[in-house]
This record gives sequence, structure tokens and C-alpha cells, in this order.
Amino acid sequence: MSVILGIETSCDETGVAVIRDGRIVLANEVASQIDVHKEFGGVVPEIASRQHTKIISQLVEKALRDCSAEIDAIAATRGPGLMGSLLVGLCFGKALAYAWAKPFIGVHHIEGHIYSSMFCERAPDFPFLALVVSGGHTQLVQCPAPHRYEIIGTTRDDAVGESFDKVARLLGLPYPGGPSIQKAAEGGDPGAYRFPRAMLDTERLEFRYSGLKTAVLYALREEKAPNIANLAASFQAAAVDVLLIKTKQAIQMLGAERVVLAGGVAANRLLRQRLTAELGIDVFLPPFAYCVDNGAMIAAAADSRFRHGLLDPLSATPDPSLTLG
Ligand SMILES: Nc1ncnc2c1ncn2[C@@H]1O[C@H](COP(=O)(O)OP(=O)(O)OP(=O)(O)O)[C@@H](O)[C@H]1O
Ligand SMILES: [Mg+2]
Repeated sequence: MSVILGIETSCDETGVAVIRDGRIVLANEVASQIDVHKEFGGVVPEIASRQHTKIISQLVEKALRDCSAEIDAIAATRGPGLMGSLLVGLCFGKALAYAWAKPFIGVHHIEGHIYSSMFCERAPDFPFLALVVSGGHTQLVQCPAPHRYEIIGTTRDDAVGESFDKVARLLGLPYPGGPSIQKAAEGGDPGAYRFPRAMLDTERLEFRYSGLKTAVLYALREEKAPNIANLAASFQAAAVDVLLIKTKQAIQMLGAERVVLAGGVAANRLLRQRLTAELGIDVFLPPFAYCVDNGAMIAAAADSRFRHGLLDPLSATPDPSLTLG
């Protein structure tokens, strides 16, 4: 039995969780800074780190109160992310590890997202293909065994979550763009505009989302009375279409038997429905609460690292451009 305290502060959510045996959540505290950054239309790094500093000890105390278990190891996100934000969680975690004389584990943020699949009703077995879709990443990752990753496809420009955020801004919808576009799209016609699906003429597992954003901008400029629901639905349909097509290509190339969805955009209902309906293999969709940044996913990845003896020294430093694998 292992009990891990996980801390996530790579961007604008402060997440603290305690989990047992890699998938039983004993406490899960998330403080979102959305309201603070909303007026700027995106995350302001200096404000983000100050907010983490303000709230982190409260969240850790609450998480520890919520569960009465003895902690075996402390984990925190080491990168990638915003330097000031990463520093808050990593230093807090290392200080606790030092004070309690417990092992410390630094976790890659995307490894954390991939491990949010441990909170599915049934956890995925290795090997699997992960489709990572978030604010900063759009990647197809081959995961042959625990903590081994090969990135087989990635974006050449914007990440898909970033394009939801940018298009929402164009359409006058609130930050964060993903949930607002999904909501606006509910009443819209996804076939109203035929927006471009980039990179479909190549076998390469690459994505491009910048052209899609520009296409929405041009369509918007041409309309005297733009129908925001139709624009949102047509954009969402195009964005999701490309993810589906490239994931199918990757499954064929690898002969993959299961797919794990990960990252904030994994909360998108159209994407979840289409992956389940169209892939024809096992698809693991993390519960909504564990899609956007949270401490439980960091603790889940750390639990496996702990069991594999992959510990880190207290000299570990944050790395804003940490690579996976
Ligand atoms: N329902 C949704 N549909 C589409 N996108 C969504 C939805 N919910 C959240 N998102 C998007 O998910 C992103 C946030 O995800 P996440 O918190 O994982 O990103 P991040 O941590 O900033 O980036 P990264 O994980 O790449 O470092 C935002 O771009 C947001 O718009
Ligand atoms: Mg994230």
C-alpha cells in the first residue's frame, strides 16, 4: 500500500491531492485562478505564481485534514510550465519531504495528464497510445511500458486547447475557450462552415491549428451579423475531426489496441463521443474532474514512479521546458 501527496502548480490551477495505491482518491483540492486571469483573456505568469503562493499551504492543510492517512512520498510537477508557478509547488513539496524525511518525486506534467486515466473505472494496461490534448500540447504518444514514452506526432504550431482559447476570444466568448466554445456550439450547425482540416494530405502524424483559427477570423469578418453558435460548432467539428483522423492513422501504424485520452481538451464532449464511437478499440476517457490540471494525476504518476524506485533528490529544480521520456 502506498499513499502519495501530489502537488500541481505548472500553470493557473493549484492542485493538491492525496491518493492511495495509485488510483484511490482520498483528497483532491483544486483552486482555479480562472476568475483572476479572465479579464486579461489568458494567464498572466507573475499573477499566477503569486496566487499559488497565497493558497498552497491552505490547500495542503485541507487535503491532509480530509484524509487521515500517513503519507509515504511527496510529488510535485517539475515541468513543463511557467517557471514562477512551478517553483511554488516544487519547493513546497521538497520542503515537506525534507521536514517529514520522506522520498520526493518530480513529475512531468504530461506524464501526469496521461496517468489521469488511472481514475477511469478500469485502468489501462500497457502498451497504449495516448492522445494528449491540452492548452500547450497536441501529441500522439506511444506508451510501451510505465515511464517510457515516444512522441510519434505533435503540432507544428498552436496546440488544440490554445486554438479553442484563441478562437473563443475572436468570437467574444469568455476564457477559457474550450468550455465556452463547447457551450456555444450546442445550438449551432457544425456544417454551416467548411473550415480547413490541416495535414490530412500527409501520412505524417502532425497537426496544425493556426490556419483553422485564421479561417474562423476570415469567416467572422465576412459576416454582417455573425452566427456565433454556427461558427463555434463548425470550428469544434474541424478541430475534433483532425484529432480523430490522426489518431486512427496512428492506431493503424502501431497496431495499437487501446487509446488513452489526456489533457484539458479531453473534457470535450464531442471528442469523447467520437473517439468512443469511431475507433473500434478500447478507449480510456478520464473522468471530467481529472482532465484539467489537478494534483491527483501528479500523485498517480508519482505512485508508479515510487513503486519503480524512480525517486528524485531534493536538489531537483523546475524545468519549464522539461521533455517527456
Ligand atoms: N470542454 C472543453 N472542450 C475543449 N477544450 C477544453 C474543454 N475544457 C477545457 N479545455 C481546454 O483545455 C485547456 C486547459 O487544459 P490544461 O489545463 O491541461 O492545459 P495547460 O495545463 O494550460 O497546458 P499543458 O497541459 O499543455 O501544459 C484550455 O486550452 C481549455 O480551453
Ligand atoms: Mg495541463
